[in-house]
Amino acid sequence: MARPKIALIGAGQIGGTLAHLAAIKELGDVVLFDIAEGTPQGKALDIAESGPSEGFDGTFKGTNDYADIAGADVCIVTAGVPRKPGMSRDDLLGINLKVMKSVGEGIKEHAPNAFVICITNPLDAMVWALQQFSGLPTNKVCGMAGVLDSARFSHFLATEFNVSMKDVTAFVLGGHGDTMVPSVRYSTVGGIPLPDLVEMGWTTQEKLDAIVQRTRDGGAEIVGLLKTGSAFYAPATSAIEMAEAYLKDQKRVLPCAAYCDGEIGVKGMYVGVPTVIGANGIEKVIDIKLNKEEQEMFDKSVDAVKGLVDACKGIDSSLA
Ligand code: APR
Repeated sequence: MARPKIALIGAGQIGGTLAHLAAIKELGDVVLFDIAEGTPQGKALDIAESGPSEGFDGTFKGTNDYADIAGADVCIVTAGVPRKPGMSRDDLLGINLKVMKSVGEGIKEHAPNAFVICITNPLDAMVWALQQFSGLPTNKVCGMAGVLDSARFSHFLATEFNVSMKDVTAFVLGGHGDTMVPSVRYSTVGGIPLPDLVEMGWTTQEKLDAIVQRTRDGGAEIVGLLKTGSAFYAPATSAIEMAEAYLKDQKRVLPCAAYCDGEIGVKGMYVGVPTVIGANGIEKVIDIKLNKEEQEMFDKSVDAVKGLVDACKGIDSSLA
């Protein structure tokens, strides 16, 4: 059986890391596409040359021609511009919307059966636009944010409790922005919900609140440190987790920006929700129950995403 084909649209910091991870995990043959001449070709060759030492098989091709993504099983989209210090993800809207248009058209023409994972920011609006421009079914187009935000939350919790991150389950709902909702009630250490851990005296409410805020600011913290770009190792790892769930039909329960059709009170929009990812793409959006306070925070986040989607419609009338 032929190896799966993985097309990476955007061969920058995240794109290159995605290619390297896909190689090491032997997920399939990789095509790196970018508008910059030489960058995808150079990265593809560099990664292929790491194969003999690491011992992986697979082919790696860099290209500036969409025809080379033909028949891809998975497309991971990072094309666009990342944040600089002082910028919010939303500041990227106008530039990256144009990029989504060309990427959507490229995927529509050459890889209409792919499972598409968008990473480009502002995420929730860009994945919506990408689905519109590509015309692919909504269950085959999703956005990577929840896995990353949850990984950041888990990392901070594992550090606070001084336990293995394997025993921490954390998840984050809502848009991938300042209004995201790290779900305290549904996050656990060894199966024990975080509010119970506060009651048991293992941590304090103040410390937990600070961790929640640090999670919300997780991307900005990295941008502030790097100064010349945004995070790429953890975002790439998160997207690979989603791609692997699809390619291996793992039926993983992962939070991601998925199209909601009434779940958690959201209709006709992309926003961060818990999903099941398997061979049919987003196989299910889990309609979890939120309490009043959580629902208010979630609704506020959904409103922020709605504002960005409306702004997209204002910029490109074909989206209205
Ligand atoms: N088509 C294809 N590639 C494009 C296009 C386009 N129209 N426009 C830009 N690119 C490429 C750039 O040439 C660059 O190589 O996208 C790549 C982006 O890479 P980086 O600038 O290194 O950005 P990265 O850190 O990988 O982040 C990409 O993901 O997390 C988000 O906010 C982040 O939107 C940003 C995206």
